[in-house]
Amino acid sequence: MQSKDTTSSICSAGSNQETVRYKEVGAQHLDQNSPKKGRYRPRGHSRQLAMVHRLIDQVASYDTSVLILGESGTGKELVARNIHELSSRANKPFVPVNCGAIPAELIESELFGHEKGAFTGAITSRKGRFEMAEGGTLFLDEIGDMDLSMQVKLLRVLQERTYERVGGNESHRCNVRIIAATHRNLEKRIAAGAFREDLYYRLSVFPIETPPLRDRIDDLPELIEHLADRAASKGHPRVRFSRPALASLSHYPWPGNVRELSNLVERLAITHPRCQIDLPALPPKYCAGDFDAEVPCPDTSAHGAIVTSPEFVDLPADGLDLKDYLRTIEQRLIKQALGETDGVVARAARLLHMRRTTLVEKMRKYDVRAHA
Ligand SMILES: Nc1ncnc2c1ncn2[C@@H]1O[C@H](COP(=O)(O)OP(=O)(O)OP(=O)(O)O)[C@@H](O)[C@H]1O
Ligand SMILES: [Mg+2]
Repeated sequence: MQSKDTTSSICSAGSNQETVRYKEVGAQHLDQNSPKKGRYRPRGHSRQLAMVHRLIDQVASYDTSVLILGESGTGKELVARNIHELSSRANKPFVPVNCGAIPAELIESELFGHEKGAFTGAITSRKGRFEMAEGGTLFLDEIGDMDLSMQVKLLRVLQERTYERVGGNESHRCNVRIIAATHRNLEKRIAAGAFREDLYYRLSVFPIETPPLRDRIDDLPELIEHLADRAASKGHPRVRFSRPALASLSHYPWPGNVRELSNLVERLAITHPRCQIDLPALPPKYCAGDFDAEVPCPDTSAHGAIVTSPEFVDLPADGLDLKDYLRTIEQRLIKQALGETDGVVARAARLLHMRRTTLVEKMRKYDVRAHA
């Protein structure tokens, strides 16, 4: 469950005082964007992310191998790019290779290159990723999915710092910094015989764990700001979220982490252009309460009641049924209060500043149950 402090920091877009707090976050953004920290600096000011920033800053200037561990979408590649851009190799290439996506029979030539005629179809010689990354950083993404036979070859290169192209006998010396990443638990893979222990120790000289979004939910408003800016710079309309919508998003577990958040922001920018995103506009799974309808945004439909926070209410051009409108708001807020208090009616009543008996009466009137 969300702590009160967190919820209040997430809902910091309303009053004047809160606007000031938002501006302060914006100022920190600038600091984070400074050339020293780089354009790939992961966004957020939570304690968990501060630790990630600290580790990045500590290791960046050394050639030490880094192993980045974390769930899918937590920003592993971003961390790798940030380390590279803060290192002395910054003006040399950063070369990513997705070890999980390349078939086992192709990965060797992908990494080390091949000579002409090395295999059927090798009509010219070709550079591998090690060669492309010379002087820079090679990012071995999804290393946990690498085939065992390839792990042996990689280990040899990491130990001897030399490799041969497929079909060639000339030894090439390499000067690359290795950063690897995986969403898998490598210790379990080792126990299952799917990952070499010696390679693990060679790669994980300096491990960095990227925390899941649900464990650093304080970062949500800042991430949303950043992702909305990023979507806007790609030509999408700029989205803004109401306080209840932000509060609701902060209760969602985010299994797809920041990637999922980024997709949601982009999707809402398209479906609700120039809108304040309020609870009913969120897809149902992102609603902490029992909100099951995606309603059209106010700009595209002036009809029907628009449920939103008071500061954003606009009277539609053709008016509205005020009684009906207020009933809808009342019902939604009651459901939300019950959702936030795990259905404890007395606590929900306190949240709504009303007597418990009054809330029970309203719940009966609207046929709302404590547990959905
Ligand atoms: N802290 C962050 N600040 C800003 N953007 C972030 C942050 N974390 C992740 N992102 C964004 O989320 C998306 C996913 O990040 P990234 O590709 O680095 O994650 P990943 O851990 O490598 O994911 P996967 O395991 O699926 O490959 C990217 O668009 C990235 O820019
Ligand atoms: Mg990745």
